[in-house]
Amino acid sequence: MQGKSNPQIVVISNRGAYAFQERDRELIPKRTVGGLASALEPVLTDYGGTWISWCGRLDKPDLERGIRLGVPPGESRYHIQEVLLTREEHDLYYHGFCNAALWPLCHQLTDRCSFQKNYWEAYRKVNQKFARAARNIKKENPRDIFWIHDFHLSLVPQYLRHQLPDARIAFFWHIPFPPADTFHILPWSRQIIYGLLGCNAIAFHTDQYVQNFLDAVSFFYPVTIFREQGLILFRNRKIYVQALPVGINYHHFEQLAADPLVRARAQEIRQSLGAEKIILGVDRLDYTKGIPQRLQAMACLLEKYPGYRGRVTLLQIAVPTRNGIGEYGVLKKEVERLVGEVNGRYDQGQGAIPVRYRHVSLDQEELVAHYLAADVLLVTALRDGLNLVAKEFVASRIDGRGVLVLSPFAGAARELQGALLANPYEPSHLATRIKLALEMPLAEQKSRLESLRRVVRSRDVRWWWQNNLKPVKSPYTTFTPATGMAGVSQGGQAT
Ligand code: F6P
Repeated sequence: MQGKSNPQIVVISNRGAYAFQERDRELIPKRTVGGLASALEPVLTDYGGTWISWCGRLDKPDLERGIRLGVPPGESRYHIQEVLLTREEHDLYYHGFCNAALWPLCHQLTDRCSFQKNYWEAYRKVNQKFARAARNIKKENPRDIFWIHDFHLSLVPQYLRHQLPDARIAFFWHIPFPPADTFHILPWSRQIIYGLLGCNAIAFHTDQYVQNFLDAVSFFYPVTIFREQGLILFRNRKIYVQALPVGINYHHFEQLAADPLVRARAQEIRQSLGAEKIILGVDRLDYTKGIPQRLQAMACLLEKYPGYRGRVTLLQIAVPTRNGIGEYGVLKKEVERLVGEVNGRYDQGQGAIPVRYRHVSLDQEELVAHYLAADVLLVTALRDGLNLVAKEFVASRIDGRGVLVLSPFAGAARELQGALLANPYEPSHLATRIKLALEMPLAEQKSRLESLRRVVRSRDVRWWWQNNLKPVKSPYTTFTPATGMAGVSQGGQAT
């Protein structure tokens, strides 16, 4: 770990790369899965620092503050600083304001939004808690860099700025930033914007989100905005605003894809499905991902083109998520009903089953084996900040085979121009695009993948974090790997 005299990176996010489990009075840090965690962990594993997050524990009145712990266990390459929440805070802040207000709002699914004053109050209170935890870290070194993440913590930059006027604060917003007139539906939209304006640099996945954010800022505040340069002048402070889509650990995925055990597992998956062609979906079971629409498209495909019956399978991996929220349970039931309906109608009694559905979280080896087993990957979200599954698939296809079908409403579509775009809202259109993917000549698959791989390789996870932190690095701040670069090892999971 870095000595106290060097500035450290302090990452702040709702969920970190570890959650704590308590067993026989012992605290066991367990790895979590998720796009944010896998994008950020390599930075801290390599450079040391502190990650402030909620670690899954609720109602700990006997503890004055959360635990500080070195991780990974036995190696201690960086520290976790836990933020403790009560069950009520977590319900109102996470289930309520974050996932019943901001999440659907930012994905432009406003019918699903629930705006409640007590959600907002809890959000403010929890953001203050995170800022306090960060404030305590700051005592260690005035040159530390705070890197705050995602819509859960939009007020932290300004809380921190009030306490530490000279702090270096960067922020990354991981989900879509909607058009300003949608954002303004939120009764507290001005406060969110003000909170974000506390940072020195803020980044989003796409240019469109940047422009939407700038529109929302200029609606509320008489700021000077240089759109071309991505710069806001706010109360004599410069705020850099950039589009920097999250990258993945490209070489790690390539290495996994070359591993003989992973390749053998891919063969096993193919054989077990008994299909000539495999269409794959890997998504958190979230209503933004368009899974019911995809199942309807599968039904359309088999209805319109009966020659595919018994020959093609859609393997849908649905990663469990946000179990405590009612809407997610409703979606699970709906997906299961549709899977039964499609299979009931189009299963031939022999040959491939139309849909195989697994409600499961896969580890990375398994994930890459699935990517390698597939002929087509469907990333057909109704709206998605970016989508790392698309990038992981591209990095894993070292064989140059496979077709990526991508929704234009996923942020990744801006970068991944070689993908086959498909509108998920219209099942028969989506079915036609799936057919095109299934029948794409090998030469075209290869040339598309080649251009996709170039993009994913050049904008990898290191490119991402270095560019994010550039505006907040002082001329004398250099990041030196704490223990060499060998620690970069984490990839992703359905985001
Ligand atoms: O995409 C935004 C995000 O917060 C990711 O970082 C995360 O993987 C996913 O949503 C699920 O988040 P959570 O389970 O913490 O609600």
